Formats: sequence, structure tokens, C-alpha cells
Amino acid sequence: MPETVVVGNWKMNTNLGQALELAAGIGNQLKNMTGVQVVLCPPFPFLSSVGGALRGSAVRLGAQNMHWEDSGAFTGEVAAQMLQGLCEYVILGHSERRQLFGETDELINRKIRAALSHGLRPILCVGETLDERESGKAKTVVAEQVRRGLADIVDITSLAVAYEPVWAIGSGLAATPEIAAEVMSEGILEVLRELYADAGSEVPLLYGGSVNPSNIGEFAAQTSIHGALVGGASLQVSQFVQIVNLALAAKSPPAS
Ligand code: PGA
Repeated sequence: MPETVVVGNWKMNTNLGQALELAAGIGNQLKNMTGVQVVLCPPFPFLSSVGGALRGSAVRLGAQNMHWEDSGAFTGEVAAQMLQGLCEYVILGHSERRQLFGETDELINRKIRAALSHGLRPILCVGETLDERESGKAKTVVAEQVRRGLADIVDITSLAVAYEPVWAIGSGLAATPEIAAEVMSEGILEVLRELYADAGSEVPLLYGGSVNPSNIGEFAAQTSIHGALVGGASLQVSQFVQIVNLALAAKSPPAS
């Protein structure tokens, strides 16, 4: 059974003061959390300070993006080796990167390879648009994104995959747990198993898209969903902490 993982993606939000306050609030409340990996992904400039605020807490740190080259003339970009030692995880291929910044599966694949070669844990994001869903292509689109994103990658032990239907992100319109679970088991898990055999079943699969304290329990109750990638609700300490606790409760019901 893959580990339970809950990631907060702050996107381009917070100032330094707010970032520190959020990190301290979440870090304190989830300080001794076990049974779930909690990861906060602040904007680049706050990684170091947020890392400081999380010291002594079980909460981990992640970046929201990175470049695939190690160094060079890439104004404004950040390399994997710059993140190494600063954070453990990196979100790659988020639909906002794909849609607003033209990232292709091929670029995302290069980024995943760079992340792995620098010991970072990539969270590969995949998901279909509304048009693709309405024309019945959700599973094939997602399966292709997984295949291309992982092309020529042999070792996936530190990978997580997030299924985020584009139409569900920031819209308040979460997928139903059944829809998400179906795409995740047939569009993602099946491909991972085909490519990596048993190792494919060990990859944590996260659902993302309008996750909140009211719906996380139902998502996490699905066997093919091992956690969540949370945007908006990760910007409020109490909502995010509730999501983590409810995800953990759904994944590990108390022994009777
Ligand atoms: P949301 O964002 O929770 O605000 O829908 C999720 C994401 O984009 O990772």
C-alpha cells in the first residue's frame, strides 16, 4: 500500500509574513504527525524561510516547479541542484504550467529526470480538460500524459502522481470520488503497473481539484486514492490541517 501524502500547493500566493504564519500554524499542529507525509509547496523565494519555520516538525517542503537543466542562460529559472538540500519534493507538470506556460509532456519528462537525478521527489500532475472529458477521452489523455511524462525513466520509487482534472482546479467543482477513482485506477495505475510491474502499485496517487474538508474523506476512502494535492484550501491553517487529519482517518480507520 503506498504511503498517504497530502500536499499544499500555495501557487503564487502569500507574502513572506503570511507564508511564515501559515507554515508555523500548520507545522505546529502537525508537528508529530505520523502515517501521512504532509508537504508544503510555497513560492520559490519563501522556500528557505518556510523550511526554517518547519524545522523540528514532520511537515516536509516542496517546490512548485523547476527547470530541467543544471545551470546556464535560463533567465528566471531554478535548477534541481538549487533545490537539492532546500526541499524534498517538486510539483511537475501542473496543469497551470501546461496551459499557461506551454509545458509539454516532453519537457515535463526532462524535468522529472532532472529531479530524480538530484534526489528530489517529483509529483507528476496529469489531468484532462473539460472538452476531453466530454468527448470521452479522459482516461486515454491521462494515460498518455503518464506514459510520456515517464518515458525512459526506470526507477520510480520516489515518484507520486497527482490526478487533477483541469475543470476541477480552483472551480469549486470537484470530480466525484467515483470519477476520480476510475481515472486513477484505469488511466494511471494500470499504466504504472504495465510499465513498472509491482513498483507501479507503490506510487502514491493523489487527487487534486477543489479538495476541501467536506470532500476529502470520500476521496481518501477510495482504494486507488492515497492522498491529495490541495490548492486554495491549503492557504488556511485550519482547513489544511482538517484535510490532513481526515485523509489519514480515511486511510487508516481505527482498529475495531
Ligand atoms: P484547488 O487547486 O485545490 O484550488 O482546486 C489544486 C491545484 O491546482 O493543485
